[in-house]
Amino acid sequence: MEIFTTKSALSGYLTSFKNEGKKIAIVPTMGALHNGHISLIKLAQEYADLIICSIFVNPTQFTDPKDLEKYPRPIEHDLAMLQASGCNGVFMPEIDEMYPKNEDKKWHIDLGNAEFLLEGAFRKGHYQGVTQIVKKLFDAVKPDVAMFGQKDFQQVLMIKNMVAHFKLPISIITCPIIREEDGLAMSSRNIHLSATDRENSLVLSKSLQYVIDNFDNFSLEELENKAKSYYLNIDGVELDYFTIANGDTLEAAKSKDENNLVALVAAKVGSTRLIDNMIIRQ
Ligand code: PAF
Repeated sequence: MEIFTTKSALSGYLTSFKNEGKKIAIVPTMGALHNGHISLIKLAQEYADLIICSIFVNPTQFTDPKDLEKYPRPIEHDLAMLQASGCNGVFMPEIDEMYPKNEDKKWHIDLGNAEFLLEGAFRKGHYQGVTQIVKKLFDAVKPDVAMFGQKDFQQVLMIKNMVAHFKLPISIITCPIIREEDGLAMSSRNIHLSATDRENSLVLSKSLQYVIDNFDNFSLEELENKAKSYYLNIDGVELDYFTIANGDTLEAAKSKDENNLVALVAAKVGSTRLIDNMIIRQ
């Protein structure tokens, strides 16, 4: 597995593969890898000949400086996981490589109204930061396909909107959520959960599963109210939102007959903010 820290070294390596007509996939990450990330690498192998994983903790997408500071960075562990996964190359640039000091810092693109809903309402500017770095990574790798986890459902939608905005010839593949045996969606943030938080965190997947299991039996309002009631009286858990939304617009669903429906949740468990979702119908 090759490791690159500069765009020029990476693009030098990729040129010969591109000239041979090989397909290239990128798996963008912020490190602190878990089996969810590895599932992206494995799925990428079905779409491309060469897999590049990027590891970069992107400062422009953090709205809370403390969150950025405490973001885990277990680089040796990440590299060992990537090596074992069959990943071909890792791109792990320093901040200056992605945000040169002399660069015009302005970045703002129209991501549609969905930018401001759900996570966008709680983390102002977050998706501008995410799409900014993903565009930079796409420019550096010029991939044919890019893999993203469904756990960040809104992020995938925003990245698809960015790709449409720039008319980039890149297929965006959404990979299913990988869960722990008891249902908790895998996330780099889970390592911050105390034993009690870890137990409490199951409320997210349980409340989503309730909606999936009971979708045919109740109205949208009843389903949401019942799901939200899971969060009452759990010490140390604070619900930010639980919604059944249209998967294209992220607006609250108006009818159970809509084509693309997804239940999404965000909650603070102890001091860790977790998100999760389950697709009801695509
Ligand atoms: O999902 C993530 O880890 C990040 O938001 C991403 C897509 C790597 C951009 O920094």
